[in-house]
Amino acid sequence: MCGIVGYTGSREAAGILVAGLRRLEYRGYDSSGLATVDAGRLHIRKRAGRVRELENLIHRQPAQGSCGISHTRWATHGPASDTNAHPHLGGRLGTAGLALVHNGVIENHASLRRELEAEGFVFASETDSEVIAHLIARALEKTGDLFTAVQLVLPMLEGTYGLGVVSQAHPGLVVGARMGSPLVVGVGEGEHLLASDAAAVAPHTRQVVYLEDGEIVQLTPGKIEIAHRERGPVAPRIDRIDWHPDLAELGHHAHYMIKEIREQPMTLVDACRGRLSRRDATACLGGLNLSPRTLRKIRRIVLVGCGTSAHAALVGEYLIERIAHLPVEVEYASEFRYRNAPLDERTLVFVLSQSGETADALGALREANRRGHPTLAIVNTVGSTIAREARGGVYLHAGQEVGVASTKAFAAQVAVLALLALYLGRLRHLSFSDGLDIVDALESAPGLIEEALKVEPIVKSAAEQIATARTVLYLGRDLLHPVALEGALKLTEISYIPAHGYPTAEMKHGPIALVDRDSPCVFLAPRCSLYSKTLASIEEVRARGGHVITVGTEGDRVLPGLSNTFLPIPDAPEILLPLLAVIPLQLLAYHTALKLGRDIDKPRNLAKSVTVE
Ligand code: M6R
Repeated sequence: MCGIVGYTGSREAAGILVAGLRRLEYRGYDSSGLATVDAGRLHIRKRAGRVRELENLIHRQPAQGSCGISHTRWATHGPASDTNAHPHLGGRLGTAGLALVHNGVIENHASLRRELEAEGFVFASETDSEVIAHLIARALEKTGDLFTAVQLVLPMLEGTYGLGVVSQAHPGLVVGARMGSPLVVGVGEGEHLLASDAAAVAPHTRQVVYLEDGEIVQLTPGKIEIAHRERGPVAPRIDRIDWHPDLAELGHHAHYMIKEIREQPMTLVDACRGRLSRRDATACLGGLNLSPRTLRKIRRIVLVGCGTSAHAALVGEYLIERIAHLPVEVEYASEFRYRNAPLDERTLVFVLSQSGETADALGALREANRRGHPTLAIVNTVGSTIAREARGGVYLHAGQEVGVASTKAFAAQVAVLALLALYLGRLRHLSFSDGLDIVDALESAPGLIEEALKVEPIVKSAAEQIATARTVLYLGRDLLHPVALEGALKLTEISYIPAHGYPTAEMKHGPIALVDRDSPCVFLAPRCSLYSKTLASIEEVRARGGHVITVGTEGDRVLPGLSNTFLPIPDAPEILLPLLAVIPLQLLAYHTALKLGRDIDKPRNLAKSVTVE
């Protein structure tokens, strides 16, 4: 949530900062701003609205200077407005010479604000962030050194931060600090960048330094200096970005969401590449860093995540229980981190996260680690905080996901969980031939998803009906129950139509009260062991005059007759049904939102990675 980009070098900073913000805009997009330092002067430009508003402003009022910081905001304290946009100025009235951008939340901002106001500092915004700017300005009055001033202030802050600071008295210097909110340094030649996400620095350099919590950095065009709050100077650890920034370009697609939906056949190829062994009829997941001997002793698995990642985890629960016969519990990360969930040495905890930066997921990982329980991660973003803090895990290799609505990451998570189920199963009772069936199934998944995507023209007409719905019920059983939850989440978050997902048979225990012509029911009813029971539930809705949309197996002769719209998916082994049934639901959400003219890739109030609690 929120994005930071900083630059110091010999090029004009404003263009680089705005281009970087564009790459991070999906993380928060209610206002943006920048500060450049030029000839001992600060130039501040900020605007409510999207980054293009800031860009227009800079066209009219250029901001010179080859050093600066910038920010795209997701509001926490104070609404989206020009004044609440970052950067914030620090200093006493008329002398403000310092600008700051902040990601995160300062929990003790109210008491700090009172203290500063009593000393004569005047606040321009309603944000919690502005207190940090004034605190640093006050410390700067004493020390005269920006790096030292930032170091003096950090212990006063309770909460989380990723910071970028510049001062008119320190041209060419950008100071950054991290606690609970990611920051990365881009290492260039004669220039350096600071960003909350490597995507912003990737077009300029492949060399990066990921800051750790408690670290403070000062960047000049020729130097990087890092210190830890408690441990003192730290030698920079240079990593390489091994993905290409252009992969996230929109190409001919109208939105990232539809691009990412259509990428899913390749997502499956990438998630399974090099991880399937026909010879042993198993999966190879070396990144778990656990020996087969240790894994054989495991008696229970806990899967933790938020939103779509939690839904993928629920699919994982069905897969692991079915294939590996291990009990699995799925927990919302936000609940897990504050519950005293019993964990023992025979329990494996996995945190699932596309971004690897979700505050609740990270909190859950840290809580499990703190209790001495080695925790593993299933993460997409390489080098993200969760990936670095986990004791091992599996990368999704789904490439950058830009649309706020997660689609291809779900597919990759389900694929990785199927691989995990296969691996754990083969370490136990699963026979060679049953293992080989799963290998075959996973190898056939990309082609089947390609087939499933052909449903798009029919989905477009179903979207006409959904667009005018009062509410929508998504119903699925067994492996498809989590897919129903995911379909409802997708529709709600990008079309703003209330939607609810339930296990199909739960409908009669309450949700059936919603059934009428204006509240369609979307049934997930492909051929599987519970098919005929699902038909009975569909009849119950029809008997009450309900509008029925079904996702079923191509060639089904019964379902089309029971449905107002029938959305076919190819016939497939049961374990692949979540990957296939989710496709029409993702498309349905997309085309409904399109019809309603919603801002699909940047739905209101949301952000791609939720880095606040
Ligand atoms: O990056 P994560 O997987 O940790 O994100 C978790 C949720 O915030 C995320 O899945 C969210 O629910 C999406 N907007 C759903 O489309």
